[in-house]
Amino acid sequence: MNKTYKGSLVTIEGIDGSGKSSLCKAIAEKLAQQDRAHLLTKEPGGSELGQHLRTLLHTRTQPICPEAEFLLFAADRAQHVQTVIAPALQAGKIVISDRMSDSSLAYQGYGRGLDCSMIEQVNHWVMGEYTPTVTIYIKVPIDIAFERIIKTRATLTAFEQEQRIFWERVSNGFDAIFAKRNNVIILDGTLPEPVLCAAAFDRLHEWIL
Ligand code: TYD
Repeated sequence: MNKTYKGSLVTIEGIDGSGKSSLCKAIAEKLAQQDRAHLLTKEPGGSELGQHLRTLLHTRTQPICPEAEFLLFAADRAQHVQTVIAPALQAGKIVISDRMSDSSLAYQGYGRGLDCSMIEQVNHWVMGEYTPTVTIYIKVPIDIAFERIIKTRATLTAFEQEQRIFWERVSNGFDAIFAKRNNVIILDGTLPEPVLCAAAFDRLHEWIL
C-alpha cells in the first residue's frame, strides 16, 4: 500500500522485562539530541481513552475473557492510531511505540490461543496504512525477564502474574511472528543497556533516515 505520510513508525516488541521501555526512552533521547521531530508513545495507554483501558486491563477486579481482552487492546489501538499516531506521521515525525499490533498476536493469539488470522484482520482494520516501518524485537530468555520484573516492580500486573507456560507461548509466539517478517531488527536483550541502545540506533539508520 502506498503511504500518504512522510513519517516513520518504529515499534518495539518483546516479553515483559525485555528492556523495551528503557530502549524506547534511549532512542527518543538520541533523536532529540539530533533535533529530529519524534514522538514517544505506547500501547496500551497512548491516548486518553487508552489510559483508562490500560488501568482496566492491569488491575482487573474480575476475570476478563480472552476475546474481551483482545477487543480492549484493539479499542486502545484504534483510538491511539486515529488520535495520536496518524497525526504525528502525517506531520512527518518518527513515532516510537512501546508495543503495538504484534503484542496482540503474541499475547492474545499465541498466549491466550485466539485465532491469529482474526487478530491480524482486526489489527489491519484499525491500523489501515499506519503499519510499522520497522519493528525492533528484543529477544530475552524468560528467566532473565522474570528476574528483572521481580527486582523492579512493587506490584505485578495481571499479565506479570501469569504462569510460566503462558510466557513460553508468548515468547515462542514472538519468535514465530518475526521469523516471517523482513522489516524486523532482532536484538539480544541480555546485552548491557548502552550496548543494546547503540546496536539499535545503528541498525535503525537504514530504516528512518
Ligand atoms: P505494560 O505495563 O505496558 O508492560 P510493558 O512495559 O512490558 O509493555 O503492560 C502492557 C501489558 O499488556 C504487557 O504485559 C503486554 C500486554 N499486551 C497484550 O497482551 N496485548 C497487546 O495488544 C498489548 C499492546 C499489550
